[in-house]
Amino acid sequence: MKTITSHIDKHSEEYLQNAAKYDALLKKLQLKILETNLGGGKLAVEKHKSRNKLLARERIDLLIDKGSPFLELSALAACDQHHNQFPSAGIITGIGIINGREAVIVCNDATVKGGTYIRETIKKHIRAQEIACQNKLPCVYMVDSGGVFLPEQAQVFPDRFDFGRIFYNQARMSAEGIPQISIVMGSCTAGGAYIPAMSDETIIVRNQGTIFIGGPPLVKAATGEEVTAEELGGAEVHTSISGVSDHIAENDLDAIQICRSIFETLPLPEKQVTEKAIPVDPIYAAEELYGIAPVDLKEVVDPHEIIARIVDGSEFHEFKEKYATTLVTGFARIHGNMVGIIANFGVLFPESSLKGAHFVELCNFRNVPIVFLQNISGFIVGKQYERAGIARDGAKFVHAVATATVPKFTIVWGGSFGAGNYAMAGRAYDPNFLFMWPNARISVMGGEQAANVLVTVKQDQLKESGKTLLQEEIDTTKASILKKYEDEGNAYYSTSRLWDDGIIDPVDTRKILAMCIEVSLNRKFEKPAFGVFRM
Ligand code: COA
Repeated sequence: MKTITSHIDKHSEEYLQNAAKYDALLKKLQLKILETNLGGGKLAVEKHKSRNKLLARERIDLLIDKGSPFLELSALAACDQHHNQFPSAGIITGIGIINGREAVIVCNDATVKGGTYIRETIKKHIRAQEIACQNKLPCVYMVDSGGVFLPEQAQVFPDRFDFGRIFYNQARMSAEGIPQISIVMGSCTAGGAYIPAMSDETIIVRNQGTIFIGGPPLVKAATGEEVTAEELGGAEVHTSISGVSDHIAENDLDAIQICRSIFETLPLPEKQVTEKAIPVDPIYAAEELYGIAPVDLKEVVDPHEIIARIVDGSEFHEFKEKYATTLVTGFARIHGNMVGIIANFGVLFPESSLKGAHFVELCNFRNVPIVFLQNISGFIVGKQYERAGIARDGAKFVHAVATATVPKFTIVWGGSFGAGNYAMAGRAYDPNFLFMWPNARISVMGGEQAANVLVTVKQDQLKESGKTLLQEEIDTTKASILKKYEDEGNAYYSTSRLWDDGIIDPVDTRKILAMCIEVSLNRKFEKPAFGVFRM
């Protein structure tokens, strides 16, 4: 493979200014993560600890193999919503290694409103299960939750992807041979009781964990019976009388050890076999991405500069290097694993769409996962291109991405606008993982374009009745749309609503992709239905 030659001048004014702006973006990200990691605040944390309970992140640290990484997902879910009362949406999810086996971990943070579920908590829990299902990973649920956050019931209870979906997913995954294990470390009330009840194997902590369909106040109201939580659904009851739970643990640590023992008994997964090379660091430093990443999305950045700082040895076997150059395609390795890379270098033309579709087919046939490096303003518009059939050629690319048989990973390193988002494996195209850089933006189109479209539509409407918009009205309309797009297009707005799996520091991109690729090998790839159509 050829080594990419970088053309970045690290002493240029432009590079230094970009790096300085990026520093501010990173500081904001670090601060938000720091605040989030405080959970439900000092008082709630003290109350939790006074009950001899470990905090959510401590529980996860002890569950995973010592010194192994934990890939936390959507740490900033629900940020800047609900008056910031639900840090991390009250639930920690991610991928960790337990007894040498990659697993999805879902852990309630009881310091956040008793670990109750708002819309984002449910979305995050279900997203973690989707990841488990797509990558065939066992699930561990560390349960400590008061169930649904009752004032929000209409947002969380009745719909298809609401609370009930969690238990449905558990049954479906169990049926597919994906282990479901629960550790009951606190409350498990009402619907929440089904998390352990629907698991393959369940552990409960003595004098701490409780499982019941209706808690003591509900029982009293319904039947008049007075009963303590322990009598109703404590660890002794469920391990010696009801049999709802299989193991009793003396404390959090004991419960975690029992879970690790369960992992020793799980069958080995049938992994996708790939040929792996010895990993080599890129020849360019990842920190240089700070000077290169587009803080101002109007600037065109050559994606080769990004690829050179992510892939092994900065080596890239480019496919159709000189053809349809607004889409860069080619093969490279990340930590030894071969990947196909599809990266934007401008808008998508008919020929770049065909090139993309052809390349996806190559990856399917070679069993090579695809990394989408997204910085896309959309498909080309205009009479010439409509007549050339941009809609048809774009559809071929979108179709190829939607039906790809290999795992997909998406990094939004710039803009993600319009149908370009679809072709480049946006959320709706089921990439195994999707991460944003802090400078990234996502919306149906740019704010300026949206403002101009809306003003034009309004003007056309008024023209029919012989009227016109005053300049002042045009300015006010444009300003309000621009502000809306500015607010709703940033990475925090996206991550808060689980449109992605988290905002990551560009420097961590290589490491995170490497882990995600390894994780995706737990499910054997499907066979493509057709050969490669040359486009
Ligand atoms: N809906 C909304 N808010 C809830 C809640 C629920 N289901 N359960 C707890 N909360 C809130 C509390 O009002 C409190 O809010 P505050 O911090 O603003 O005062 C916070 O969560 C912590 O609750 P608290 O009772 O002080 O904490 P705890 O650790 O002693 O007990 C629970 C936690 C979950 C065991 C207990 O609150 C409880 O039993 N809740 C009701 C559970 C239930 O019946 N759920 C049915 C829903 S399906």
